[in-house]
Amino acid sequence: MVAAAANANTNTNTGTKTGASALPPEGNGREAVIDVRNLVKKFGDRTVVDHVTMTVKRGEISGFLGPNGSGKTTTIRCMCGLLTADGGDGKVLGYDIRTQARQIKLRTGYMTQRFSFYEDLTIRENLQFVARLYGLGSQAVSDTLEDLGLTSRRNQLAGQLSGGWKQRLALAACIMHRPELLLLDEPTAGVDPKARRDFWDEIHARAAEGLTVLVSTHYMDEAERCHRINYISYGKLVASGTVSQVLHDAALSTWIVEDEDNEGLLPAVAHELSGKPGVEQIAPFGTTLHVVGSDGAALEKSVKAAAQRHGAKTYRGETSLEDVFIQFMGKASDNMAEKG
Ligand SMILES: Nc1ncnc2c1ncn2[C@@H]1O[C@H](COP(=O)(O)OP(=O)(O)O)[C@@H](O)[C@H]1O
Ligand SMILES: [Mg+2]
Repeated sequence: MVAAAANANTNTNTGTKTGASALPPEGNGREAVIDVRNLVKKFGDRTVVDHVTMTVKRGEISGFLGPNGSGKTTTIRCMCGLLTADGGDGKVLGYDIRTQARQIKLRTGYMTQRFSFYEDLTIRENLQFVARLYGLGSQAVSDTLEDLGLTSRRNQLAGQLSGGWKQRLALAACIMHRPELLLLDEPTAGVDPKARRDFWDEIHARAAEGLTVLVSTHYMDEAERCHRINYISYGKLVASGTVSQVLHDAALSTWIVEDEDNEGLLPAVAHELSGKPGVEQIAPFGTTLHVVGSDGAALEKSVKAAAQRHGAKTYRGETSLEDVFIQFMGKASDNMAEKG
C-alpha cells in the first residue's frame, strides 16, 4: 500500500473533518480520470497486458474482472506509474502515465492485493507511518481514524485484526492523503459478507462525492455494484460496459431444469445434455440445473427434449454475470488451445 506513497511529500490535508473526499464535484464532473489506450506490458517475451484501452470517468466505480493471471494487477500498476508500459499511452488524472508518474502517485490511493502493513504495529502506528511518507501531520491520522470508525481500535495490533478490520485499515491508509483516484486490487478477498457490504457502502458514498474508483474483484455481487465493469482475459480486454450492457452483448440464453421434488433426476439430465447442440454450460444450483448457450434455438430444443425424457420441469432462466464470465473463460481457453 505504501508503494505509491513513497517519496511523496505533499500536504493536501486541509485538517478539516474527513468523510468527504478532497475532490470537489466541479466542472462537468464527468471527465475521464483514467484514459489509457493500447497499453502493453511484457515480462520477458510474455505479453501480459495486451493492448488494453480503458476509460473511467470521475465519480465512477469501475470493476476490473478476469481470472487469476489475466493482467489486472499489472494493468493497475501501469496506470499508477509503478510500472512503465512497453506500449500504448494515456493519462490518469490528466497526467501522462509515462512522464508524470509522480504526479499520478501523489493523487492516487493504491490498495495492493495483499495486506501489507506492519502486523506488530497498532492501527494508529501504521497510519502514522503512512502519514509520514506523505508528509502529513498527526491531525490527518486522527481524522482518518475517526472517519473510518477506527478510533476505538486505534491501539490494536494490525496483526490481530479480523479480515474486515484489516481491510478498513488498508482503506484508511490509502485515502488519508485525500486522493482523487482509488485503485483497489481485490480489496475484499477473505472478508466476510457484512464487512464487504459496509466496504461497498463506503466506496459508493465517496464516489458520490467525486472519488473515482477502479476495483478488481472476483465476486459477482461486487461486479454488480459497479457502475461499469471491464473483463480482461489473458491480457486482453474482452468486454466493458454497464452490467446490463455486458449481459446483453454476451447474447446468451439460459434454461433452468428443475427437479421440484428432489428425486435425483438432475445428474442424468446433465449427463444427457452434455455435448448436445446449443449446450455450452451446465451447472447445478440446488434442485435446479442452469443450462446456458449462445444458440438459443438449439439450446431450447436440447433442454426441452432432455427434461421431458427424465420427467423434469424446464423453463427459461435469466442469464447471470457469472454465466457470462464462465463463457468468456471458456472461449479464452479455446483460443489458447488453438494457438498451442
Ligand atoms: N514482475 C513480474 N515478472 C514476471 N511475470 C509477472 C510479473 N508480475 C506478473 N507477472 C505475470 O503476469 C501475468 C499477469 O499477472 P497479474 O497482473 O498479477 O494478473 P492478475 O492480477 O489478473 O491475477 C501472470 O502470468 C503473472 O505471473
Ligand atoms: Mg492481481
